[in-house]
Amino acid sequence: MSTKGRIVIKLGGGLITNKNKVKTLDKDAINKVCKVIKILIEEKYNIIIVHGAGSYGHILSKEMKISEGINHDINDKQIKAVKQIREDMRELNNEVIDSLKRVNLNSTGFPPSIWAKNIGKEFIGDISIFEKKLGEIIPICFGDVVERDDEKEFGILSGDDLMYRLSIEIPDVNFTIFLLGDVDGVMDKPPDNSDAELVPIWNSNDSIRTSHNSEVDVTGGMDLKLMRASEIAKKIDNVWFLNGDRPERILQLVRTGSTIGTKIKPQ
Ligand code: IPE
Repeated sequence: MSTKGRIVIKLGGGLITNKNKVKTLDKDAINKVCKVIKILIEEKYNIIIVHGAGSYGHILSKEMKISEGINHDINDKQIKAVKQIREDMRELNNEVIDSLKRVNLNSTGFPPSIWAKNIGKEFIGDISIFEKKLGEIIPICFGDVVERDDEKEFGILSGDDLMYRLSIEIPDVNFTIFLLGDVDGVMDKPPDNSDAELVPIWNSNDSIRTSHNSEVDVTGGMDLKLMRASEIAKKIDNVWFLNGDRPERILQLVRTGSTIGTKIKPQ
């Protein structure tokens, strides 16, 4: 079956959960995106889904300093927390799988804790399992706690690093899309400023003030997303940050080549 290409799409943790309250889900947001994914598949795009953690991962990770690696003073608690976070991430993944099922799409989650090691964009792991054909299952992965082969022993592999390797290494990718919650794309100031404006085209020479909420976020927040996105843009023409609460914009983008959101340009 001939396809129009492949879309790698990230459902950010801030879109699918309420980031500040432990394990609170935004089911409506997930369902709305899954309906659009159904249409993209009907329009002959192959899809790879990545999702973030939001309140299913960041809060406990922060509390137990999981991203800093093993800490011998609290290691018993850390071991329990690692198990818990991995379980919580699978639970969140199942919510995405169920939502896809509701629109008759079959998907499978591949938890990075099983197949990936090390953190950052050079993480180790065979990503060829994500290279599916149209009509086969939709592969999903997500930010997760993974083993590290240095003295830190474990760390957090962000969905943004997964986005990088999936977009760069899997063939036929023509769109890489980061879906955000509550915001139309990259803003010129932290979005809680009432005069913040959308930046329609961004490259890494444009300085913007991001609000990295390090109170909650244990990966790199918006700064990491932007860095990875501009690296992806060196290879992929269409790298976009869109408002996940308005998923119809994804359709407008793939049909017309443009929409409301931020297009990321290479350096
Ligand atoms: C974080 O993944 C994973 C854990 C905290 C376990 P991401 O970095 O992809 O998550 P979001 O999108 O910021 O929530």
